[in-house]
Amino acid sequence: MPEWLALQRHALEMRKRHLRDLFTVEPHRGRRFAVEAAGIYVDYSKNPVTAETMGLLFSLARSCRLTAERRRLFAGEKINATEARPVLHWALRDSTGRALMVDGVDVMPRILQVRERMAAVSEQVAAGERLGHGGRRLEHVVHLGIGGSDLGPRMACRALRFYSRPGLQVHFVSNLDPSHLSATLRDLSPENTLFIVASKTFSTQETMANAAHARGWLLKHFADEAAVRRHFLAVTAAPAAAVQWGIDEADVFEFWEWVGGRFSLPSAVGLPLMMAIGAEGFADMLRGFEAMDNHFRQAPLERNLPVILALLGIWHADFRLARTHAVVPYSQDLEHFPSYLQQLEMESNGKRVNRDGRVLEYATSPVLWGGTGTNAQHAFFQLLHQGTQVVPCDLIGFCRPLEPYADHHEQMLANLLAQGQALAFGKTRAELAAQEVPATLVPFREFSGDRPSTAILLEELTPAALGKLIALYEHKVFVQGVIWDILSFDQWGVELGKALARRLLPKLKGEAPSGGEDSSTRGLIDHCRKKMK
Ligand code: F6P
Repeated sequence: MPEWLALQRHALEMRKRHLRDLFTVEPHRGRRFAVEAAGIYVDYSKNPVTAETMGLLFSLARSCRLTAERRRLFAGEKINATEARPVLHWALRDSTGRALMVDGVDVMPRILQVRERMAAVSEQVAAGERLGHGGRRLEHVVHLGIGGSDLGPRMACRALRFYSRPGLQVHFVSNLDPSHLSATLRDLSPENTLFIVASKTFSTQETMANAAHARGWLLKHFADEAAVRRHFLAVTAAPAAAVQWGIDEADVFEFWEWVGGRFSLPSAVGLPLMMAIGAEGFADMLRGFEAMDNHFRQAPLERNLPVILALLGIWHADFRLARTHAVVPYSQDLEHFPSYLQQLEMESNGKRVNRDGRVLEYATSPVLWGGTGTNAQHAFFQLLHQGTQVVPCDLIGFCRPLEPYADHHEQMLANLLAQGQALAFGKTRAELAAQEVPATLVPFREFSGDRPSTAILLEELTPAALGKLIALYEHKVFVQGVIWDILSFDQWGVELGKALARRLLPKLKGEAPSGGEDSSTRGLIDHCRKKMK
């Protein structure tokens, strides 16, 4: 595309321009390259871009027909082409009352119905109206799921712990490693524990293995099959499989093929969150999602936050050759946000062929990683400041604290701002010399600067703010997928490993003769078998 080539040429010119110079030439960059919308303030001035860069990036977006693709998303077209499905996570928070037809059926009444049932069961548990099999109040919820059926509610329950109602504790178990489930169950009693089995397919190995174990744990105590119906709920797009497993039909909460796992928090997958913060808190979060959906649908590209973040990501990945991207929330409550985003971005856009199946000659999703500020400053920030590779990062913060606690919050914010400054402007040899730093130490203490960061500030960590923040990244992922010309809503890359594990299991257990593996895998099987005895 001519726009791509123009950006490549422009990137060569920009290589010589340090962020220090950009701020000198344009002292008002901090305001020029900042946008506030839907309660989120994004300052992207500390990225190596000029008005020309952004102009070229917006032209690229236009030439990739971004607005037409956005229309297709919100029209419910089957843009998940390899699975022939529409992509409708946004409908889960649409409060307009408009019908949305999928294969001739209006899906909106179903969405509302499931949400009402979620609210009802959450209230019953909270009010002690739904009791355990032995008549005890349910005080613990153990959510069993993995990937998109785990990361969203796990992240959100942690993020919104300030709003959690007392009397109910929510736990998450995802890993096949038995230590995950056993560490959780160790301190719990079957009498007051409710399980939610969350799996879109209701067939995922990890979740089904953990659910089977949990069921055994319960039955060992109650020795009555009827207990399973009191103590298990299901969240799934395969309700018949859940019923067959033994869960009461009335306790199966459906979501649908057109909700991708990694986009499913606002669906029934959010049930543990609703139990924790209540139906009104959940509704607040949905309103936040919807505010960002509306912003993304309506704002011009130049002031559209998801579009801006997406284009900056493309600029870094494809024209500045950054291979990773760090996300650093200055909020302990957002400690699971980076791992949530890992699935959202990398499972969506970690693709190597375009929408026609042709192998790409440019980079798609960078490796996303991160940790919370200020902890991360004492761990990996050294590399961000002085390492040999440039890692663009998002520094996320909240202007107001949830709890007044001396001046901890102001200190947090000061650190966020300081890191952005240090990354961008660094410390020169001249500055060090002026401070009489011994010459032998100068090379070690020099900060080259010119390290990009984007500050993303929200007002306060409320359910609505969390919804906005998640939707911001969801739409960023969509925009990048359009520009990279890839299919963002399938995940075929996770299948092969699952199939091979199924084939290797009987060999590892000695139930099937080995043969056919490569010599490395053969050797590993032999070693494990020897040591298993
Ligand atoms: O293995 C990847 C994946 O398919 C994710 O996309 C999905 O979120 C996760 O597994 C869990 O799948 P399920 O909800 O069907 O158990």
